[in-house]
Amino acid sequence: MRKPVIAANWKMNKKVDDAQAFLDQFIPLVWNEKEIDIVIAPPFTVLHTVANLLKITSVSLAAQNMYFEEKGAFTGEISPAMLTDIGCTHVILGHSERRAIFGESDELINRKIGAARNFGLEVIFCIGETLAEREAGKTFDVLKKQIQAGLKEIPHNGIIVAYEPVWAIGTGKTATTAEAQEAHEFVRARLADLYGKAADETRILYGGSVTPESIDTLMACPDVDGALVGGASLKADSFARIVKYNK
Ligand code: 13P
Repeated sequence: MRKPVIAANWKMNKKVDDAQAFLDQFIPLVWNEKEIDIVIAPPFTVLHTVANLLKITSVSLAAQNMYFEEKGAFTGEISPAMLTDIGCTHVILGHSERRAIFGESDELINRKIGAARNFGLEVIFCIGETLAEREAGKTFDVLKKQIQAGLKEIPHNGIIVAYEPVWAIGTGKTATTAEAQEAHEFVRARLADLYGKAADETRILYGGSVTPESIDTLMACPDVDGALVGGASLKADSFARIVKYNK
């Protein structure tokens, strides 16, 4: 049985007061949700505030990125040791915005994943094809390459995969359940190439314009084990509704 994960990626949104107001409203709404792993990934500048507010809850704290070195002359970067020190248990790596806007390669992402695991951070490893790649019939090739390169020499434990088709991110265009299930099934098969039976335990999240309206049908897909939510995670009531899908 794979425990579902519903994760919020706030991206570059929310200052300290906004994060505090969100959690004041959100925590009471999800207090009793013990059958779901809830994760919130705020920007670095509010990690400290959110960590303190989450202390007495079962909601986990994630960072949205990190560098692979432990410390040193890397101006502007944050290390895995700094993340665990502040209370992060998870980190998002390989997000398509990091790949496309900041030029992150599969090899860099692989080094980051290795470093995160060495520090005990659970990794939400993002993969996904662009619209051009899908239209050119290259979806499966892209996913296979991202998985093989990103997870090279990485053991299976502590890895959560997020399938986020780039054309569905922030566009209001969610993948159909058939498209999501097909991609997730393919991802699980490629994870089985690497990890054998353990691939059955790996949680694979869907991300891309997930809303309170779309979550129920997505979660009904046999290989969809949760969601990584951007825009709809910014409001407490909407994110709580996603956490409480099917209720
Ligand atoms: P949206 O839910 O805003 O489409 O963002 C998805 C995403 O990129 C989550 O990491």
